[in-house]
Amino acid sequence: MREYKLVVLGSGGVGKSALVCSLQVAVQPAPSPTHSLIFLLQTVQFVQSIFVEKYDPTIEDSYRKQVEVDGQQCMLEILDTAGTEQFTAMRDLYMKNGQGFILVFSITSMVTMNDLYELREQILRVKDTDNVPLVLVGNKCDLEDERMVSREQGMMLSQQWGGKPFYETSARQKINVDEVFYDLVRQINRQ
Ligand code: GTP
Ligand code: MG
Repeated sequence: MREYKLVVLGSGGVGKSALVCSLQVAVQPAPSPTHSLIFLLQTVQFVQSIFVEKYDPTIEDSYRKQVEVDGQQCMLEILDTAGTEQFTAMRDLYMKNGQGFILVFSITSMVTMNDLYELREQILRVKDTDNVPLVLVGNKCDLEDERMVSREQGMMLSQQWGGKPFYETSARQKINVDEVFYDLVRQINRQ
């Protein structure tokens, strides 16, 4: 099975961890009957997608999630990074390692979108290329009343970045979450 190293980046509290947890993963293939209880427990863990209400800042987490994209089983190795400044020392290293990047802001905060310019610059510098598989994500689109970044502004930024895909998502309502990851897998496949 092909593996994909994905990195999720963005300011603190925009919903990076919530997005990773909301990704719907494929059901694991059935194991031998002796392992059926373990399998059952694992399955419950695997197929449910979780939305975490409480804000618990990430230091750094990595997840392995199996998904099906265009009929192909893919193993995603997802690095969920820390948005808070004090944990950013490792950035260069994981940017070098990553094959695809999800840049997340919250539609409720213009600052979080502006923070992405620098992150993208850093990715391009570290990867030493101007074309890296990347998806721009405006999360928390369920909070329409608190919107501070219009859909057009998100689209303009993605155009500025050479027509990279832009999705508005809600980890809470599971809107467009899977699509973001699938899009990134497809971009890596095209490389
Ligand atoms: P750091 O790990 O500190 O960088 O933050 P993060 O980007 O991982 O944010 P996290 O996923 O922890 O979410 C922060 C808060 O926003 C939590 O209280 C989540 O419940 C909430 N949240 C995340 N995604 C959404 C969403 O789509 N809609 C709404 N309404 N709230 C969300
Ligand atoms: Mg987090």
